Amino acid sequence: MARPKVTIIGAGMTGSTTAHWLAAAELADIVLVDIVEGMPQGKGLDLLEAMPIIGSDVNIVGANDYEPTKDSDIVIITAGMPRKPGMSRDELLEVNAKIVKTVAEQAIQYSPNAIFIVLTNPLDVMTYLTWKVTGLPTHRVVGQAGILDSARMRAFVAMELGVSVENVHCYVLGGHGDSMVPLTRHSNVAGIPLNQILPPDRLAAIVERTRKGGGEIVSLLKKGSAFYAPSAALAQMVEAILKDKHLIVPASAYVNGEYGLKGFFFGVPTQLGRKGVEKIIEYDLNEEEMAALKKSAEHVQANIAKLEEILAKLG
Ligand code: APR
Repeated sequence: MARPKVTIIGAGMTGSTTAHWLAAAELADIVLVDIVEGMPQGKGLDLLEAMPIIGSDVNIVGANDYEPTKDSDIVIITAGMPRKPGMSRDELLEVNAKIVKTVAEQAIQYSPNAIFIVLTNPLDVMTYLTWKVTGLPTHRVVGQAGILDSARMRAFVAMELGVSVENVHCYVLGGHGDSMVPLTRHSNVAGIPLNQILPPDRLAAIVERTRKGGGEIVSLLKKGSAFYAPSAALAQMVEAILKDKHLIVPASAYVNGEYGLKGFFFGVPTQLGRKGVEKIIEYDLNEEEMAALKKSAEHVQANIAKLEEILAKLG
């Protein structure tokens, strides 16, 4: 049986680190695509040369064109500008819209049967754009954000309580930005809801740190944004899809009435398998949680309106 094929567009920090996780897990052959000449080829070859050491029989190539990406099972889009300190993800909208539009248009021509996973920010809007440009059915386009935001919250809770990260389950929904919605009632440590295990002030501090988690890394790095955790999250989604795991994770998926929302991509609990997004899980949310989710949805919708203006200008 042929090994699955995953194309990663954008061989920068996140793209190349994603390739690293996928290759180490022997999940798929990998094609790295970037506009910088030689860079994806160089990183691809370097990673390929690591395979004998770790004992992984996958093929990795780099390219500046899309021919080698032909018939990919999954296409990941990480191409675009990362944030600079003090910048919000929204400020990347115009520059990254142009990039994502170009790369999605090219990638779909070579891999019409692929599932597209988007990482470029502002995430929910770029996922919507990829769906529009590719013309794919909604279940074959999904954005990565919720696994990352939830993992950040899990890490903070594990540190606070001194328990294994494996015991901590957190669910962060909503748009990937400061309006994201960490669900403290649904998040738990070995089955005990977070709001029963942590005092309110500590819980509030963890929620706030989670919301600003990306910005915390950006201000520490000074150049570029987080890439280890975002790429690990991408690798988890790839594994869930290729192994048809029916894994439930928060991700940016097309909402069609769930949570009273319709017609755009937004962070919700999704079930991922070989066909892509198999279903959206609806939690029982209270009034306060629903209000926070609606507020976040309005933010994403406002950005989609801005995107439509940009697309109209681009023609
Ligand atoms: N085609 C292919 N690659 C492109 C294109 C394009 N049209 N435009 C830019 N790129 C490439 C860049 O050359 C660069 O190598 O995208 C890569 C982006 O990598 P980094 O600058 O290292 O950024 P990274 O940290 O990986 O973040 C990428 O993910 O998390 C988000 O906000 C982040 O939007 C950003 C994206």
